[in-house]
Amino acid sequence: MEQQEYARRRRELMNLMGDNAVAVVAAAPERPRNRDVMHPYRQDSDLYYLTGFPEPESVLVLIPGRETGEFILFCRERDPDKEVWDGPRAGQDGARECYGADEAFPVDDIDEVLPGMLEGKDRLYCTMGLNPDFDHAILGWVNQVRARSRAGARAPGEFVALEHPLHEMRLIKSPAELEQMRQAAQVSARAHRRAMALCRPGMAEYELEAEFHAIFRRSNGWHAYPPIVGGGRNGCILHYIDNNASLRDGDLVLIDAGVELDCYASDITRTFPVNGRFTAEQRAVYEIVLSAQAAAIDAVRPGNHWNMPHEAALQVLVQGLVNLELLQGDVDQLIEDEAYRPFFMHRTGHWLGMDVHDVGDYRIDGQWRLLEPGMVVTVEPGLYIADTIPEVDERWHNIGVRIEDDVAVTSDGHTILSAGVPKTVADVQAAMAEG
Ligand code: GLY
Ligand code: MN
Ligand code: MN
Repeated sequence: MEQQEYARRRRELMNLMGDNAVAVVAAAPERPRNRDVMHPYRQDSDLYYLTGFPEPESVLVLIPGRETGEFILFCRERDPDKEVWDGPRAGQDGARECYGADEAFPVDDIDEVLPGMLEGKDRLYCTMGLNPDFDHAILGWVNQVRARSRAGARAPGEFVALEHPLHEMRLIKSPAELEQMRQAAQVSARAHRRAMALCRPGMAEYELEAEFHAIFRRSNGWHAYPPIVGGGRNGCILHYIDNNASLRDGDLVLIDAGVELDCYASDITRTFPVNGRFTAEQRAVYEIVLSAQAAAIDAVRPGNHWNMPHEAALQVLVQGLVNLELLQGDVDQLIEDEAYRPFFMHRTGHWLGMDVHDVGDYRIDGQWRLLEPGMVVTVEPGLYIADTIPEVDERWHNIGVRIEDDVAVTSDGHTILSAGVPKTVADVQAAMAEG
C-alpha cells in the first residue's frame, strides 16, 4: 500500500474525530507459542490500517490540529545488539522518514511523553477491552494528568470508542484495498485449483494443506486463518484444523483456506470428491449448496440489506432439504422454526478485509444495514450431514459441503474477487481429471 493511502486514512479519521481530540492505538502484543518460541508476529489491523508500521511495541497517537505534528509514533529504538538477533528496526528516524510520522519517540519514554499529549483534550479515542495491558496503561496515563489537576492540568473528560469511526472506514474498501484483496483471492484461487488437480485417494489431508502453504509462501503471504482440509466426516466439523486423516476413495473433501497478503485476507472454500467423481448423493447435496450460493451472490448488490443473501441462501437450502426428504414440511415454516440447523448452523457470510471476520456493524439502529459499494462479503452456504443427526438415511452420512467466495459490492451489483476456481460439478470433475 502506498504511503499516501495511509496518510489519506489518517486525515479522514482525524476529520471524523473533530477538534480537541486525541486517538491512541496500540500495536498487537507479541504472543508466545511455547517456551522461547513466539507466534509469527502479525500487526494489529487498526494500527496497520493507519500507518503500515509492522513492528511490535509501538503506539500511534493522532492529534488533529496539533501544530508540531498530528501523527506521532512511539516505537522501539535502534539497538545493534538486539538487531543482530531479530533484524533491523525502523527506530525514530525510520518512523519519520519511511512511515511519514511527524514526530517519533522511543516507546520506553511513553510514560513521560504521552500524558502531556492528553492534557487539555476533550475526547480520548481508543479501543477498550481488546488488550487489557494497554487499557490499563491508558488509564495510568490519564490518571497522571488527573494527578496534576491542582496545577491546572485537565484530563480528557470523554472516552470515545475508536472503532465507531475507524471500523466504519475499514468496512468500505478503497480501490487500492480492493486490488490488494483481489490479488489475495487470486493466489488462494490458484491454490484451490492446484489442490483439485493433485487430490488422490490415500493422500493425507496435510498433503493437500502443504500445497496451500507452498503457494501462499511463494506469494510472500501467510494463511489468513488456520486452513481446514477435512475429508468425509471431518468436512462436517466446522472448525476442523487437525488435517491429519487419510483421504478416502468415495468421500468428499472440504477445503477452507485463504491467503493474507500485506494484512488483507481472502477466504475461499471448495468441496470436491477425493476420487474426482461425485456420487449421486454427494452431487444432489452439492447442487443444492451451489444453487444457494448463486442465489445469495445474486442478492449482493447496493440497496439490499446485509441479511438478504443469507435469506436467499436459506430458501434454496431448505427447499433442497425438503426435496431430498431430509426435512418435511412447509419451507417458510421450517425456516421460521430453524429446523434446518442440524444441517446448516452458520450464517451465509461475514465482512472480509484486513481481518477474515472483518470489522463493521451488521445492524444500524436495530435494522440490517444496507450493502454499499466497497463492502466485501463472503458468501458461504453449506450443508453438513453428520452421521450423528438422528433419522437420516445412512446414504447421506458424512456429506459435508460448503462453497465460499469473496464478493465485493460495486455500484451496480457485485464482483467476485475469488472467481476462477471451478465450482459446477462438470467444471470440478474436469479440473480433477486434468490433474
Ligand atoms: N474461514 C473462516 C470462515 O469461513 O469464516
Ligand atoms: Mn468465511
Ligand atoms: Mn472460510
